[in-house]
Formats: sequence, structure tokens, C-alpha cells
Amino acid sequence: MAKRSEPSEPKQERRAREEREPRQVSAEAQADDVRIDRSLRPKTLDDYIGQARHKENLRVFVEAARRRGEPLHHLLLSGPPGLGKTTLAQILAHEMGVELHMTNGPVVEHKGALAGLLTKLGRNDILFIDEIHRLNAVVEESLYPAMEDFRIDVMTGDGAFASSIQIPVEPFTLVGATTRTGLLTAPLQSRFGQTIRLDFYSEQDLAKIVQRSARLLGVEIAAGAAMTIARRSRGTPRIANRLLSRVRDFAEVLGTGKIDETIVQTSSERLDIDAAGFDEMDRRLLRIIIEDYDGGPVGVETLAAALGEPRDTVEDVYEPYLLQQGYLGRTPRGRIATRRAYEHLKLPFAGKQRDLFDP
Ligand code: ADE
Repeated sequence: MAKRSEPSEPKQERRAREEREPRQVSAEAQADDVRIDRSLRPKTLDDYIGQARHKENLRVFVEAARRRGEPLHHLLLSGPPGLGKTTLAQILAHEMGVELHMTNGPVVEHKGALAGLLTKLGRNDILFIDEIHRLNAVVEESLYPAMEDFRIDVMTGDGAFASSIQIPVEPFTLVGATTRTGLLTAPLQSRFGQTIRLDFYSEQDLAKIVQRSARLLGVEIAAGAAMTIARRSRGTPRIANRLLSRVRDFAEVLGTGKIDETIVQTSSERLDIDAAGFDEMDRRLLRIIIEDYDGGPVGVETLAAALGEPRDTVEDVYEPYLLQQGYLGRTPRGRIATRRAYEHLKLPFAGKQRDLFDP
């Protein structure tokens, strides 16, 4: 059955709220990230660190499309926020030597708005639709002929005089981004030639990203300090770059200007980020399961209400890393806190969760 995301706080509103009360380790983009991101974002595949398998495949697709003078296959990028979906779209446009047109699912409110975007595209350009799972059904359907045959169907007239005219658009590539592929309808998903599921970055890759960013920012960093920042960045380049930028502030004001392990440690303590990269919100989530629900299972809806966050935010922003790292488990009846979560919070492990855990 076709799935759609439940109504929840739109990204723009969430951003506005996070600007008022920014969460240090949230992977969602915050106001100053835009500035940081822009200066640190890699522009070519060679500069891009991590996601090695996807990167090499993309290199082949770019080369093949360029040789044939055709657009890239439509591409769906999925994964938690902050892993580089927008960055990859920008790199692909750069490598293809085409223009990138960016928009966001909920912003394309009606067919006319989509037609406006599509008719502006140049040959082989890339149309990037962030949060593509939030397109409304009518707009989504009018995207199908554009993706398949590079045309838009426009209805004219009414009743007995109604007819459809077809407007050709230039061959283009649709790059769609979503936090979870499962949120897309099957017909939309099937129209993408390829899907790339971005994974959390390894600590080694994140450390390389931190070193590259430090070089671009003109700040000296010890290898061990880069690794500690990497370890506290929840597998996410956006968080790593944000943390680096905050640590640089502490280093300049409280230290020598150079980033070493001591200043990373001091900064983390002052920002309330622990050794696993968790902030108060992550610890609260685990604590609610352990202390209020006896370790779980607890339904995600209940958990979201207890945290005072929309369900989508809990599922897309907070949970993925906790699940991937084994602090949180998913059972048919809800989320449970694993032994690792108890140990991290220095709480005695009750043991009953072992029987519930469904790996
Ligand atoms: N900055 C943010 N993401 C990056 C990546 N994947 N490679 C290099 N620098 C980055």
C-alpha cells in the first residue's frame, strides 16, 4: 500500500524552532550550519570523503552519462539528516557540468508550481527535491510523465471541452531526497533508476572530514583531537563540522587557538555532549524508556509525546543512530533500551529486555 508521512512539523518550522533553542548534536541543519556547510562542502567526487561504494558507482554513472550526452538516471537519496544528500546533488551537477535547481516537497504546492520548475530546466540539468516524500499526491502524479517521457500533461477546458495538451521539457535528472525510502509511494519509488541509501560515516572517515574542514578553516588540529570530535559526531558530517566550529571558538578564546584533545574535552563538557556524542535529548529518550517504561517496549507515538517532539523527528533524527549503535532495540511492540543504554547511563540492567529484543 502507498505510504505517506503523517502530518508533522514542516522542516522550515522545525528549523525556526531549533534556531531559538538549538540542539548541539541534532543532525538537522541549523542557521549557522548553512554558512559552515557552504564553506566546507566538497565540490567534486574527489573531495568527497566516505560512502566509498556509492561514490565509485556515481563516478561511473557520471562518466557514462557524459559520454552519451544524456542526463543521469533519476536518483533517490535516502538516509538520516546531515549525511550529505544535498552535497551529493551539488557534486553531481558540478561533475555533469549542468545546473542544479533545488526545491523542497511541501514547497511545490500544486501542479502549476511543478510545471514552472520543469519548464525552466536546461538540457540534462538536475532538479533536486528535498523531502520528496512530502509532495502532495496530485503533484507527485504529474511528476511521473516528466520522469518517464520528459513531458508534462496539462488539462485545458472543462467538462465536454476538457482535453489534455502535452508540453515537452528538456531531458533532466530528478534527484529526490528522503529520510526513509519507506515513506515514498511505490509508483514514485519505482521511477527512480537508482537508489542510494546513505549510511552513517565511520569514525575514520569523519576524522578525515574534520581534518579537511580544519584545514579549510585555517585552524591547526591534532590527529587525536580530530578523532575525538569524530567519535562524538554520531556518524554525521554536519554534526562533526558544527562541533569542530564550536571547539574552534573554545580554542581561540580559552586556549592557544590550536585544537588538541584537552580543548575538545573541555568544549564537550561545556556543551553537554558525552563520550558517545549524545546530548541531553538522547539521554532523555533512553531515560524515559528505562525509568518511565521499565526498559520498554514503548510505542514510538508514546515516546514522541513524552519527549514533546513530533513522531517523525523521533524516528528520523533521534532514533537511527541509537538503533544503529545498539542503544535502542526495535520489537514488534515498540522500542526497548538495550544493555548498552543502561551501561551508558550507569543504571543497573534489569535483564528482561533480553527476551524482548528482536535483532
Ligand atoms: N564535509 C561534509 N561532508 C563531507 C564529506 N563527505 N567529505 C568531505 N567534506 C565534507
